[in-house]
Amino acid sequence: MDATADTLIIFGATGDLARRMLLPSLYFLERDGLLDKRLRIVGAARSALDANGFRALVRDAFLERGEKLDDAWRSFEDRLGYCKLDAEARSDFEHLARMTGERNVYYLSLSPQHYRSACGNLHDAGLATPQSRIVVEKPIGHDLASCRAINACLANAFDESRIFRVDHYLGKETVQNLLALRFANVLFEPLWNRASIDHVQITVAESIGIEGRWGYYDSYGALRDMVQNHVLQLLCLVAMEPPARLDPDAVRDEKAKVLRSLRPIVAADVTEKTVRGQYIAGSMDGHDVPGYTREAGGAASGTETFVAVEAEVQNWRWENVPFYLRTGKRLGDRHTRIVIQFKCVPHSAFGQGDLIPNRLTITLQPEERISLQLMNKTPGLTTEGMRLSPLSLDLSLTEAFGAQRRRIAYERLLLDALAGNPTLFVRADEVEAAWSWIDGIAAAWQETGHAPEPYAAGSPGPAAADALAARKGYRRA
Ligand code: BG6
Repeated sequence: MDATADTLIIFGATGDLARRMLLPSLYFLERDGLLDKRLRIVGAARSALDANGFRALVRDAFLERGEKLDDAWRSFEDRLGYCKLDAEARSDFEHLARMTGERNVYYLSLSPQHYRSACGNLHDAGLATPQSRIVVEKPIGHDLASCRAINACLANAFDESRIFRVDHYLGKETVQNLLALRFANVLFEPLWNRASIDHVQITVAESIGIEGRWGYYDSYGALRDMVQNHVLQLLCLVAMEPPARLDPDAVRDEKAKVLRSLRPIVAADVTEKTVRGQYIAGSMDGHDVPGYTREAGGAASGTETFVAVEAEVQNWRWENVPFYLRTGKRLGDRHTRIVIQFKCVPHSAFGQGDLIPNRLTITLQPEERISLQLMNKTPGLTTEGMRLSPLSLDLSLTEAFGAQRRRIAYERLLLDALAGNPTLFVRADEVEAAWSWIDGIAAAWQETGHAPEPYAAGSPGPAAADALAARKGYRRA
């Protein structure tokens, strides 16, 4: 593994992501003794602050979270420095150069429209050294062409092995546990294929709306905001072949193969394979909630806030196994869930009554829970032979590891970026393969004039999403 970084520079350090996620995550790493003693953290942003002003800003963000200013905080505060910097201004980078070390990590917590200038300026100021790394947040583009343009400007300054593209879902413990569940147990792998699995459902249901992000969200929509990255990453972890090792290339090679095996969705089948929805006014937890367009003061919009897709991974393992992908905002029940629906037994020796096929349900959010539905003998005596009923084997990870604090996904990602381990970051070919599939759907929607269906806030989403699965005789799980 690469040498540990000595300086972390956070661009956009006064912004929302840095204050809510990045800086608190770094503090938690400090508290757990996981930060290298020599690490310095430099906040870089346009606000006219000095190091003390920046420390005060970080301190306030902490207190707002209800954290206490303990000894760990004091050590953390000592690491913080500040550089007033505009990512577009070349001369500001000369100043930054005086504050950096030998092995720098540049974290671009900026709007992607500044990526090109930031990379160019880092390069021109001699800061894109072979020992440094760059971390970039999603969205990496709006489509394949803009994603390639961003990747090209990153590649101009940094080698691919030093570019860390964040998908924060990969930093979640529960998402990493998918790798453990699949590849650290002998139980599932022999059944994990078209011979035993009937279909798969992956749902990321959110109860929040667009949280004041209309400007960004309306030009992205659920397909680009969630499916292109988080949902497809979950699909990859479910569908990938076992990697030979848990090293960056072995894991990412397998994920990229899944993305390249996705059958393109075209205008001829987009109506049958996808559903778009947009929330209208409704009620959540007894409160009235405005519709999507009201959140932007009534502007009309054809952007989807819900999407369902029947995806196919065209390879030997998954041929003819549909993957139902769903995500939406303002849905009644918040959960992230993967359901592996197994096939029926080939022959029932039990006479009357249907055998209910096994089902593995992996709930990632809000609580991690794994449950396996099995058929059991119903206890008791009858004269009509053995009665059966389904029963679940339930594993609650919250109960098993309840005492452990739930970590912010960024803690893992920051630790790995500082240590130079890119396994949980997205490689250029992965993000491009994902865009290529997403572009096909977006183009097919446009070509067919496929408009979003309204659904009430607080509901499970458009009825058509149920119809999508029902077409093959399945129910939303
Ligand atoms: C972000 C999306 O990437 O992920 C948001 O832009 C979404 O729209 C969020 O709400 C969901 O993340 P989490 O961790 O809350 O499931």
